[in-house]
Amino acid sequence: MAERKARVAVLVSGGGTNLQAILDRQQEGIIHSGEVVLVISNVAGAYALTRAEKAGIATRTFTRKELGSRQHVEERILQELDQQQIDLVVLAGFMQILSSAFTGRYAGRILNVHPSLIPAFCGEGYYGLRVHEAALARGVKVTGATVHLVNEIPDGGPILLQKAVSVLEGDTPEVLQRRVMEEAEWQILPAAVEMLSAQIVKEEKGEL
Ligand code: GAR
Repeated sequence: MAERKARVAVLVSGGGTNLQAILDRQQEGIIHSGEVVLVISNVAGAYALTRAEKAGIATRTFTRKELGSRQHVEERILQELDQQQIDLVVLAGFMQILSSAFTGRYAGRILNVHPSLIPAFCGEGYYGLRVHEAALARGVKVTGATVHLVNEIPDGGPILLQKAVSVLEGDTPEVLQRRVMEEAEWQILPAAVEMLSAQIVKEEKGEL
């Protein structure tokens, strides 16, 4: 009998290059303990949704504009996660801070990738390109990315994986963002998805 895989949902808001990295590693069998079965966006038309569709994965879009508030967006996402019996939630460029009601419901089961070495340049207001602008403004010589478990503190949950990336002379925020993605995010996020998926499957079998 085939091993049960952890059912993974990926939450996105933008281009979805981190989602793509996960899907590619899944295709290659490097992620084998979990399977992405659902992609949810809080931004209509996000390119990440097209990537999911191309891979044959179910998608949902829940926007604040359409539903009226952040809380309603969360409620719809939670409903969907429950319905689809999701084991692991991955925030891959998801630009909405989650309430403690949400993070409590999936405690230890939500991963986030952040484009800096936490605790530098993180927390409310630090997202996307802004993180790299802040790193360049401060003049750091090394930055990187972090994958952590999500709790009620923005970017404050336990750190699982980090990878350092050099800042080079003449870097713009865009150039630095791309290097951090290529050298760090696209490696450590898929690695963490496999790690936690494997743990979930083992726990279920009573092996942990
Ligand atoms: C990534 O750099 C990710 O680390 C960052 O947004 C980008 C999304 O890119 N996330 C945050 O800043 C969250 N605080 P992607 O849509 O191409 O994966």
